[in-house]
Amino acid sequence: MPFTSKQLKRFAKKHGISLDTVSPPDFSERRKTLENLLAQQNVPFPVTREHALSYLESSHLPFSLGTLSDKSINLGKYQNHQDYNSLSFEDHLSWACLIANQKETKERYACIEYLRGEDTFPIKSSVIPDYHILNARLYQQTGWQLATVSTIIPSSLFFQCHRHKFFPVTTFMRPLGTDYLEEPDIGHDLAGHIATFTIPQVAEIMKNHGIAHERIFESMKKQLLKAKNEEEIDSIKLDAEELLVYAGRIYWFTVEFGLVMQNDRLTAFGAGILSSPSETPHSIESAEATRILIDPNSDRDLLRLAITDYSINEYQKTYFVLKDFESLTSLTPERIIDVVTEAKHLPHLGWRDILDSDHVISRGTDSMSPDEKYENLANGIPLDEASTRVALRNIGMPEYNPQRLGPAAKLLLNSISSKN
Ligand SMILES: [Fe+2]
Repeated sequence: MPFTSKQLKRFAKKHGISLDTVSPPDFSERRKTLENLLAQQNVPFPVTREHALSYLESSHLPFSLGTLSDKSINLGKYQNHQDYNSLSFEDHLSWACLIANQKETKERYACIEYLRGEDTFPIKSSVIPDYHILNARLYQQTGWQLATVSTIIPSSLFFQCHRHKFFPVTTFMRPLGTDYLEEPDIGHDLAGHIATFTIPQVAEIMKNHGIAHERIFESMKKQLLKAKNEEEIDSIKLDAEELLVYAGRIYWFTVEFGLVMQNDRLTAFGAGILSSPSETPHSIESAEATRILIDPNSDRDLLRLAITDYSINEYQKTYFVLKDFESLTSLTPERIIDVVTEAKHLPHLGWRDILDSDHVISRGTDSMSPDEKYENLANGIPLDEASTRVALRNIGMPEYNPQRLGPAAKLLLNSISSKN
């Protein structure tokens, strides 16, 4: 049921918003902004005249996929579009409330690069950004473009987009008054992710994840050509899926839920953290959460991410803290593949587990030693979903053979005390 004007005023007042500012620009205003934007040549990725002309020509149509480069991507049945005129006043007000909620937490807890990045884009006003304009700005500053999708897309397609520097975004705004959503929406995709593209090391690892996914798929296809029976086909597919899950964990603990040390202080850059005004302070200050310092140059630390399971339904139990952004440049596609391949041969960890060899910044009250989950399981004490999944996976694995492992994996195996 639509909100009454009294209710809308109450929402606006609660978030310190004047309803007059929730006024989306009309087409001629948006077109003028776009024209001025596309004419800018003193930007890292200037738009060619040819691309600018055709882009402007189609600006009266709903935005579907960025067309400012020669790259494209086939989104198949997940293809969507943003029809700016069909966004309701409530959509815009919901966005304005989220931006107002995020302002304080971002200013207090986000890293400096993220805050600077936000100022680069038209994402802090009281109305939802027009994707034609946002896409143009994103391309000019970073070389990435938007690809609108209808819902959560398969991870293979998600990373295929990354491979070609497209970022999948939804066109749906969370209902007014909703604080938390499990699925991504405009609030998460734009007000969480867009600023991170201006952190070159983060944008680069997103692309590298895309390349690593592509190579894992190619390798799987080659193996399938040689498969002799259904059993072998299933096993090859399962192996590839497993590698992708582990690569996804590295992505999750950095791009989505990463913290970074800055001037001896914990700051956030992960889009999953910063899009949530309540998880942001939790990630930095809560006594419940564990924070572990990692150096992506270290194979041991990358493996630590790859073998750690997590859940999407609650605040994270463990946050991994980068020592700096520069160290992320070591995360090449080759290293991602090497690490996830090795992760297959190790016992895995739940999101509450802490190892003696971890560089713990703060130990959360929700943490446990790796063995505790097996004890709890044996004694019928309920475990959370991520811990249960890991315990069952480890119990079902054959004995771990240290001879098959590299030095970093052996080191990690030694500090995971037991699977029994
Ligand atoms: Fe995300």
